[in-house]
Amino acid sequence: MAILVTGAAGFIGGNFALDWLAQSDETVINLDKLTYAGNLDTLKSLQNDARHVFIKGDIGDSILVAKLLEEYRPRAVVNFAAESHVDRSIVGPSDFIQTNIVGTFNLLESVRGYWISLSDEDKADFRFLHVSTDEVYGTLAAGDQPFSETNTYQPNSPYSASKAASDHLVRAWHHTYGLPVLTTNCSNNYGPYHFPEKLIPLVILNAIAGKPLPIYGDGQQIRDWLYVKDHCSAIRRVLAVGVVGETYNVGGWNEKTNLEVVQTICQLLDELRPKQKGRYAEQITFVQDRLGHDRRYAIDARKLERELGWKPTETFESGIRKTVEWYLSHSEWISNVTSGAYRSWLSQQYGE
Ligand code: NAD
Ligand code: TYD
Repeated sequence: MAILVTGAAGFIGGNFALDWLAQSDETVINLDKLTYAGNLDTLKSLQNDARHVFIKGDIGDSILVAKLLEEYRPRAVVNFAAESHVDRSIVGPSDFIQTNIVGTFNLLESVRGYWISLSDEDKADFRFLHVSTDEVYGTLAAGDQPFSETNTYQPNSPYSASKAASDHLVRAWHHTYGLPVLTTNCSNNYGPYHFPEKLIPLVILNAIAGKPLPIYGDGQQIRDWLYVKDHCSAIRRVLAVGVVGETYNVGGWNEKTNLEVVQTICQLLDELRPKQKGRYAEQITFVQDRLGHDRRYAIDARKLERELGWKPTETFESGIRKTVEWYLSHSEWISNVTSGAYRSWLSQQYGE
């Protein structure tokens, strides 16, 4: 048996592949284009493991995907592959439209062609799980209820609009063609192997390098943080027992302002790697706000908890400590991902 996992050289997909193979012998076929965000170093421990098959390629390449499906005959596809960084989507939305919308469309069509060819029993057992984000629901005001699965889609950034479009395609492929799909909409993830363009890893690495810790606007924007391994366990659960055609919100009940997150990281670094002089929080610098910056995200994960019996295992306090410790002890992974392409993004975004 095998599953096809797209984008498994990225942050969440990489953690998913590692966790999957730590508890199952079912082969992971990993289709990843290896954009700047894809890094095979994350999967180094699987290098000589026959249960991990890596194929460099694009989810939008219909000929390649059809060939892979025919050859490996997976019982499920888990789609992580996407352009995922909001700031990059503001600077250059084109790749987001291409991969997140056109790529997902092509993938759905390739998978539909394969699915139709299966026996009735295999057809019924097959699953296409689409990994999406809470950002499709737009932004919340301070007193609003967290996003539930019935909230309307109101995406505000090119990234979230492209993910919203992909969610709609997935839904339509179920409603129209009967493809057995599942969709998960998760809040902000953090943890090991997170590319250091996103807030948490960027702040950890800038802090220990003695650089400014950039906070957009007033730093009072709220995100609902989930430790990546809890997201992976939610996806495994939805894949195993989720009801076909349903969507599930995934979140950790951990709403924090950006300033709180950065201050927590600074305090942990003060404890784990004290500076010779002063405190890390002195490096905090308020910078120009993101265009169209969503004020607050919060997830109501009760459907997943009630109907599928999932619960996160980490609190924000336990997860962020593990994350800071991980970054302090994985300098080789960090130096491999912080290549020339990464440095040119920093200079474009922060004028470094
Ligand atoms: P990431 O940017 O770290 O990884 C994306 C991976 O997809 C990379 O390995 C990249 O090489 C690959 N990829 C990009 N375009 C591709 C293409 N056309 N074909 C094949 N592979 C391609 O992203 P992530 O943070 O791991 O997010 C994974 C998924 O989870 C995304 O769909 C994202 O929208 C969703 N999500 C992310 C978060 C978060 O906080 N990071 C939260 C909720 C949902
Ligand atoms: P990010 O990690 O990019 O995730 P997302 O935009 O998908 O929520 O950003 C998390 C929050 O941190 C978001 O409100 C933007 C903010 N932020 C900063 O204040 N400074 C930074 O340098 C970055 C990258 C993000």
